[in-house]
Amino acid sequence: MAKHQINQFGTKIGLIAATVGSAVGLGTIWRFPAEVQSGGGAAFLLLYVVCVFLLAIPVMLSEFALGRSTREDAVGAYRKLSPDSKWWMAGGLAVVSSYLIMCFYMVVGGWTLEYLLGAVSGDLFEPFYQGQGAHEMFNGKMQEYVSGGWSPIVNTCMIIIINIGVLVCGVQKGIERMSNIMMPLLFVSLCVIMGYVLCQLGSFGGVEYFFKPDFSKITPGVMVGALGQALFSLSLGMGILITYSSYFPSDTRLTRTSVIVSVMTLVVAVMMGLIIFPAMSAFGMNDANHCVEGTTLVFVTLPEVFMCMEGGRVWAIIFFSLLLLAALTSTVSIAEVSVAFVGRRFKLSRFKSTLLVLLPLLLFSSICAMSFGPLENFKIGGYTIFDGLDTLTNNIMLPVVALLGVIFVGWVAPRKLMRDQLTNNGAFKSVFESAVMFVIRYIAPVVILVILISNIL
Ligand code: PFF
Repeated sequence: MAKHQINQFGTKIGLIAATVGSAVGLGTIWRFPAEVQSGGGAAFLLLYVVCVFLLAIPVMLSEFALGRSTREDAVGAYRKLSPDSKWWMAGGLAVVSSYLIMCFYMVVGGWTLEYLLGAVSGDLFEPFYQGQGAHEMFNGKMQEYVSGGWSPIVNTCMIIIINIGVLVCGVQKGIERMSNIMMPLLFVSLCVIMGYVLCQLGSFGGVEYFFKPDFSKITPGVMVGALGQALFSLSLGMGILITYSSYFPSDTRLTRTSVIVSVMTLVVAVMMGLIIFPAMSAFGMNDANHCVEGTTLVFVTLPEVFMCMEGGRVWAIIFFSLLLLAALTSTVSIAEVSVAFVGRRFKLSRFKSTLLVLLPLLLFSSICAMSFGPLENFKIGGYTIFDGLDTLTNNIMLPVVALLGVIFVGWVAPRKLMRDQLTNNGAFKSVFESAVMFVIRYIAPVVILVILISNIL
C-alpha cells in the first residue's frame, strides 16, 4: 500500500486561507505598488482589476479544474486526463519552474527574517556612518544585510527549515493550520499599520495619488505589466493551484472560491497601496529618490518611513512579521508543488518527500543568496544566478506554463471537464460556464502569448 496519504483541506475557511496565503506573497506586497507608481496610480489599479476579473479568474478556474477533477499533482493531472500524450510535460514544466522560483524566493524570505531580527534587536535603526541621511543609511543597511557574510545564508536556511517543519505535518495539520493562524494575523497587522498611516497629517495626498487615475501613463507596456501582475499575484502558471485544488473537497464551489481568493488578494494589494503612498506623502518622501520598487521599497523606503513614525521600531517589527508571514504562506505553497509530485510519483511518505525536495534547496538557495556577496561577479549572459532565475521563471516559464494550461483545458480536455467542475458534477447550474470557457479558449491564450512575446523582446 502507498505510504503517501490522500490529503484534503478540512474546512472551507482553511482552504481559502491557504489559497489566499499562497497568492498574497512578496509579489503582491512589493510588486504591486511599484507597478501602480509606474502605471499612473489608479489607472493601473483599474486595469489590474479588469485583468483579474476578465482573465485571471478564468485561468484560475482552469487550474482548479485540472487539480480537483484528477486529485493529482501537476504532472499526474495532465497524465490522467491525457494518458497517451506528452501533455504531462506541461505539468513537468510547472514543477521545474516552481522549484527554480523556490531557489531565489527563499532568499528573499531570508532577508525578511533578517530585517525582522534587525528591528527586534534595534540594529536596523542604528546609524553606522556618522553624518549621513536616513536614506543613505538604509541603503547601506540593505547592502550590509543582503550581502553581508553568513547571515543571509543562515536566514535563508532558517526559512527552508520552517517550510520543512510545516510541510512534513501535511496538508491539514501543516499547511491549513499554519494558514488559519497566519492569514488573520497578516490581515490584522495590515489594518493596524494602514489605520495609523491614514491618521497622519498629510497622508491624504497619497490617497489621492493612489485613487486619481492618470490615463496618459497607460501604454501597451503598462497593460502587459497589469496582465502579468494579475497572473503572478494570483499564483497562476506555477502549478500551485493545480496542486492545492487537488485537496479541495468535492463540494467546494470553484467559481465562488476563485472570486473570494481574487478579491481578498486585491484587498490586500489595495491596503498595501494605502499604506505606502499615504506614508510617503505624510513624511515628505514623494521625490524621485524614494522609489517604491521591489527590494528598495520594502527594505529602504519603508524603514525610513518607520523611522519617522512614533514608536517606529514597533511598527517595523509588525511590518516585517507581516512580510514574513506572507513569504511563508507562499513558499509553502510553491514547495508543495514539488513535494506532492515527488510523493505521488515515487510513492514516498510525506516526511521523505518533503526532505527530498527541500534539503537540496539548502545548497541551491544558499548559492542564490551569495549572488549579492561572494558570487556577485559570477554572471551567466550578464545575469547573476539570482537575477537569471528570477527573469527566466517570471518572464518565460510562468507564461508558458499558464499558456499550456489554458490550451489544454480549452482545446484538448473534453468540454465536460470544465462543466462538471464548475457545477460540481451537475449539482447546480453555472451561469458563467460559457463566458469562462470563451475566455479560456480564445482570450487567455492570445493574451498570455502577447505577455510572453513582449517579455522575450
Ligand atoms: N502570488 C505569489 C506572490 O505574489 O508572491 C506568487 C508566488 C511567488 C507564490 C513565489 C509562491 C512563491 F514561492
